[in-house]
Amino acid sequence: MSGPSTYVPKSAIGRWFESRLPVMGLMHSSFVSFPVPRNLNYMWTFGAILSFMLIAQIITGVVLAMHYIPSATEAFTSINDNIMRDVNYGWLIRYMHTNGASLFFLACYFHMLRGLYYGSYKAPRELLWIIGVVIYLLMVGTAFLGYVLPWGSMSFAGATVITSLVTAIPVVGVPIAHWLWGGFAIGGPTLTRFFSLHYLLPFVIAAMVGLHVWAVHVTGQNNPDGVEVQNAERDTVPFTPYATIKDLFAVAVWFILYAWLIFFIPNYLLDADNYNIANPLVTPAHVVPEWYLLPFYAILRAIPNKLMGVIALLASIVVLAFIPWLDRNPVKSAKYRPAYRLFFWVFVAICIGLGWIGSQEPNDTMSLVARILTAGYFGFFLVIMPVLSFTEKTKPVPVSIADAVLAKKPAAAA
Ligand code: HEM
Repeated sequence: MSGPSTYVPKSAIGRWFESRLPVMGLMHSSFVSFPVPRNLNYMWTFGAILSFMLIAQIITGVVLAMHYIPSATEAFTSINDNIMRDVNYGWLIRYMHTNGASLFFLACYFHMLRGLYYGSYKAPRELLWIIGVVIYLLMVGTAFLGYVLPWGSMSFAGATVITSLVTAIPVVGVPIAHWLWGGFAIGGPTLTRFFSLHYLLPFVIAAMVGLHVWAVHVTGQNNPDGVEVQNAERDTVPFTPYATIKDLFAVAVWFILYAWLIFFIPNYLLDADNYNIANPLVTPAHVVPEWYLLPFYAILRAIPNKLMGVIALLASIVVLAFIPWLDRNPVKSAKYRPAYRLFFWVFVAICIGLGWIGSQEPNDTMSLVARILTAGYFGFFLVIMPVLSFTEKTKPVPVSIADAVLAKKPAAAA
């Protein structure tokens, strides 16, 4: 979409540089002249918000790593005493990083739901979507590894519950668990390898985001009406200033939310149990993951068999990669798909319900509701999407993006 650059540097130095390494031309065609659909709404600013959060997490993470000590005897104090009290502004960097993880996931859920609602996973954006699913998996892995690092009692319990899941694999499960732990139980060697991987994965995420954004530039962006660009002149506006200003505004608003969390309720999303040092002999009364992983935790616990639970947990994310082929309806946007739109909101309610159940003590009633909601979660992808592909009566879709915009402004159209 961005095509060959028409950028011509004004200065002689610029021309010398550009003829040898056309970085400015690439930037210009990607972020200045790049044509964006003129009907994009604020849901299309979450890509920029996510990029901002990724950079914030990497910068604060690198600074934290300068003071963190990845050892089972010192990790807890290096965070709770040194970083939180002794290091200049260490408390700020730490609260930015822990709350940043939550806001990163929140933005990611908005971004994914936007894609699901407007059919951004459909051709020609299947690969773009699948790269997104890979990024999400990497984010889940990174968040889990990071949560273990403070070596609090919830870190230890979380690491135990999740790494022990591999023991459900027949024959090789236990040797794999020992290999993951670096010994016969979770301890110092587990912590050092988790730290090493937690430092590495964000850079893998950054590389995947590079591919993701490249793919956006090849296919062009989808839009709220789900019709492809036909006439660039009528249907699009240049990325700068239109999308740049809108993205900057959205990032600024998100930043206010971020600052409010950090300065007013920095511990609201954290678990009090994690302010107790890890002790293999004392497990917290109620082991729960961070809020953003609760729906998956509910799916894991909904299945009585451990191996099947692990398979359901993995399947609940992997199924996302297949939706470009599960939903065959040619109409992309839920704006023109009343039945899909209804089921979409039911799906959102199911995810919230699963999240709530994941935070509760398990009992018979909860397990029953969790099973019903798990069936609903998979039912949305495996039954509703394929069935609606061929049976749904869709509304008439506008011929072009310009038509959709002008239909809203009859005076301008006249
Ligand atoms: C670190 C995480 C991520 C970053 C930084 C990121 C960044 C971006 C950016 C900058 C865009 C273009 C602007 C926009 O549409 O908002 C975009 C588009 C898109 N992203 Fe992501 N993304 C991330 C995660 C994901 C995930 C997890 C998924 C799905 C599973 C996903 C799916 C998509 C899709 C389908 C589009 C095209 C949307 C359209 O044009 O309608 N992304 N992303």
